[in-house]
Amino acid sequence: MSAERVNVGIAGLDDMLGGGLIQRSICAIIGTYGTGKTTFSLEFVWDGLKKGEHVIYISLEEREDRIMTYMKMKGWDVTPFLNKALFVIKLDPTDFNLANNRIKNELPNLISEVKASRVVIDPISLFEDLFPTDSERRQEMFRFIEGLRDKPCTIMMTSETDKDNVFSSRHALIEYLADTVILLRYIRPSDLTDVHLALEVVKMRMSAHSREIKPYEIQQDQVMVYSEANVF
Ligand SMILES: Nc1ncnc2c1ncn2[C@@H]1O[C@H](COP(=O)(O)OP(=O)(O)O)[C@@H](O)[C@H]1O
Ligand SMILES: [Mg+2]
Repeated sequence: MSAERVNVGIAGLDDMLGGGLIQRSICAIIGTYGTGKTTFSLEFVWDGLKKGEHVIYISLEEREDRIMTYMKMKGWDVTPFLNKALFVIKLDPTDFNLANNRIKNELPNLISEVKASRVVIDPISLFEDLFPTDSERRQEMFRFIEGLRDKPCTIMMTSETDKDNVFSSRHALIEYLADTVILLRYIRPSDLTDVHLALEVVKMRMSAHSREIKPYEIQQDQVMVYSEANVF
């Protein structure tokens, strides 16, 4: 039996994933600033809204109004969905108690309440930063992710990369907890050439997937992943 797929909404990437994310799985998008993590997660949101799904978008970085503006700039008419099918929540990444309570205690209830089938947390790394120790972070994140696995929704979390390692998330944790890991990065073939963006699917539990590194471009209205092209 093959698992049901949930499209990310970016054609070339869905091809690389063998059709899309596995329904009810957890995906991590890892990349440094400007690689398109927020853009990818919004494509996932819009794909869901177009299909009549309910979506929760938890933002620890951009304000609600900026997220709405960004989606409108892409030519997506999101206003009619707001607070009906699209629930955008901005959390203050400096207030540990509040963010912790809302993410750990309120999110699971909210998913059931609004019948969300897609959830985004952008970026989870700002939430992870709040834990005072590594062991607390590991323990709490493990519990939190396990709790989300009981929910009937597909989850996308983004993370900044580690400052010294573009292949690792900031706390080197989410890639172990997530079922699917997509890595976004800059590639500069030589000192004098332009920077290109390239992505790879580094992990996908219970599924065949492409392991190739593919170039992508963020355009005004869409993300193009050139799954037929080669970076090198
Ligand atoms: N309307 C647009 N047209 C073309 N490129 C855009 C547009 N909006 C954003 N970008 C590109 O996307 C990048 C930011 O993507 P974003 O999703 O915010 O990245 P991240 O969340 O990883 O920091 C920008 O640096 C810019 O290169
Ligand atoms: Mg972002």
